[in-house]
Amino acid sequence: MPDKPKYYLTTPIYYTNGLPHIGHTYSTIVCDTIRRYKRMRGYDVVMTTGTDEHGVNVERSAKKAGVPESEFVAKMAAEWRALWDELGVQGDEFIRTTDLKHAHTVQWLFKQCRDNGFVYPGHYTGQYCIYDNAYVDVKPGENCPDCGRPTETVTEANFYFKLSAFQKPLLDWYAKHPDFIQPEARRNEVLSFVEGGLRDLSITRTSIRWGIPVPGEEPHVFYVWFDALTAYLSAVGGPQYEKTGFWPADVHLVGKEIIRFHAVYWPAFLMAAGLPLPKQIWAHGWLLMDSAKMSKSLGNVVRPRPIVHVLGMDALRYYLLRETVFGQDGNFSYDALVQRYNSDLANGLGNLASRTAAMIEKNSGGKIPKPAAFQPQDITLATKAQAAIGEVLEQYDNLGFSLALEQIWSLIAATDKYLTTEHPWSLGESDADQQRRATILWTTAEVLRIVTALTHPVLPESTAKVWSLLGQPGQPGSIALDDLSWGQLAPGTPLGKSQALFPRIEKAEAIERMESMENEAQKQPSPVTAPATPSAPAAGGATIAAAPAAAEKIGIEDFAKVEMRVGQIKTAERIVGADKLLKLTVDIGTEIRQICAGIAQFYEPEKLIGRKVAVVVNLAPRKLRGVESNGMIVAASVGPEGRPVLAGFPDEDVEIGARLK
Ligand code: MSP
Repeated sequence: MPDKPKYYLTTPIYYTNGLPHIGHTYSTIVCDTIRRYKRMRGYDVVMTTGTDEHGVNVERSAKKAGVPESEFVAKMAAEWRALWDELGVQGDEFIRTTDLKHAHTVQWLFKQCRDNGFVYPGHYTGQYCIYDNAYVDVKPGENCPDCGRPTETVTEANFYFKLSAFQKPLLDWYAKHPDFIQPEARRNEVLSFVEGGLRDLSITRTSIRWGIPVPGEEPHVFYVWFDALTAYLSAVGGPQYEKTGFWPADVHLVGKEIIRFHAVYWPAFLMAAGLPLPKQIWAHGWLLMDSAKMSKSLGNVVRPRPIVHVLGMDALRYYLLRETVFGQDGNFSYDALVQRYNSDLANGLGNLASRTAAMIEKNSGGKIPKPAAFQPQDITLATKAQAAIGEVLEQYDNLGFSLALEQIWSLIAATDKYLTTEHPWSLGESDADQQRRATILWTTAEVLRIVTALTHPVLPESTAKVWSLLGQPGQPGSIALDDLSWGQLAPGTPLGKSQALFPRIEKAEAIERMESMENEAQKQPSPVTAPATPSAPAAGGATIAAAPAAAEKIGIEDFAKVEMRVGQIKTAERIVGADKLLKLTVDIGTEIRQICAGIAQFYEPEKLIGRKVAVVVNLAPRKLRGVESNGMIVAASVGPEGRPVLAGFPDEDVEIGARLK
């Protein structure tokens, strides 16, 4: 048998100074979906993911946590890994930039570049953004143009990489390989950046300790991008890449903000070292929250765990791939997530699977029935299913996940309609009726088998359940998609055990549960904390006092724990996707706070500006629909539906910030 063709794809490697949010999750899930898909197309696939563990940010975070850097990154990397497991991500290689094999590869790559005359020593002074780990083109005192945070002036001895020598080779490469950078908009962006001229690049630091040493040149350590990008190569053999056969990579999948590092620096490093270049760099868009990039620095992140806990991992995977057109930005909303879950998964796929199995159980003794003569309506559905196979594979090949899923769900909708018009449940017990019913049920089960195979890369967990429900052997991941076609469902196959797929869930309840888990998680200490000393309580070990029973009286000292002050509303706006909430900024005398209030159905935002209200100012911050709320506005709850009426100070001229006692 000929060897399977090899396919190598990568996610970016993630910074370890924070924990994953669903923006990171998006990159990884896309890669995992491609990985599963390519396997089903007969490829020998390797997918690399991992963690980017060096740099000044990690030095600082470890210091703050009071642990050595190595311990800090080990714990954070374990967190990232565990999360990918929970999301069904089948990474083949998890590379950490603190791995020894990675350090050897970086040092080797540097030597190749230096031996070939593309590295020289020098000094550099510039504005450095420690958050993005990059020098930025701004004047001292100015903020980073990308993330808006302060920059630092850095002067240091370093080694330069002669990036300027690669302007022409890179432009020639892009011209010869028009698909190298995807999508088109990103390609144009990179082209104009390179056409504008390339400056040499500082690739080592003497100001940082936590990095891979430059051999014989201590105290130089490698600068993060030279270090990080090389991880793609370290994961598949490093200097011995030829032995594994997985280099060059087929695709590096990245977020659009790091396209330049991947499409300019990385190919230049590889050219300088005389190594093959990756075949493609694909930049996807951002996941937005309230129209801004979801990111830790903006405080608008949504974590994946609460979603997985309430709706299951497949729901998150499905939502991310279905709602966002690959390559473009997409907005996250809990409403849309639960809506998709209920309509597409619970009522769509889940319902089709359970009703099909129930009808076969009842009418065919739990075995796939044998179809009799097909009628035109059966053939129409069969033709649609057969056509969907080709169309969906084509979409997957182009990373058109959203369209692929749309096509599959249109097939599910057609099957629901087919069942409604053919209504097998109302056929009688005559031979003709029994045969007709067997044909309808076989046809429906065959569509379900095809749908299961096609959705497996996106929904690994639930498709495995449907597959075994249909009595099919092995795992759906081992289906050869190239051989998938209409008519392969063998009559007489006994159905497997029925398992819960996507139980319907009430939207408000689901959102409430996800948000409260998110809020709880935020109160937890970081996974990395200094060991507790005997005199100090262990981190996170605070005791929780039992809540007083409803009628129990409290002392004045308990009341005094609640700090309430007079605040004045400065701005008020609605929150997209949250009908009941308003986002307010409130002046509480000492500062301006952002507070969310569940009053949107009863108060017009414009009419609230300037209004004085009572604010609980010492409430722990929490998130409501992903928006941070730092305090609480006090309102009376009136009538059976709990209409909020704001507590206020209409008659007196009270000072902003005055305490309520
Ligand atoms: N460590 C570098 C990458 C080095 S690769 C050799 C880095 N790390 S990161 O943790 O900040 O981000 C990694 C990736 O996470 C981004 O490129 C992007 O793919 C993904 N995302 C982070 N926030 C995102 C969104 N809000 N939306 C979509 N993807 C996002 O950059």
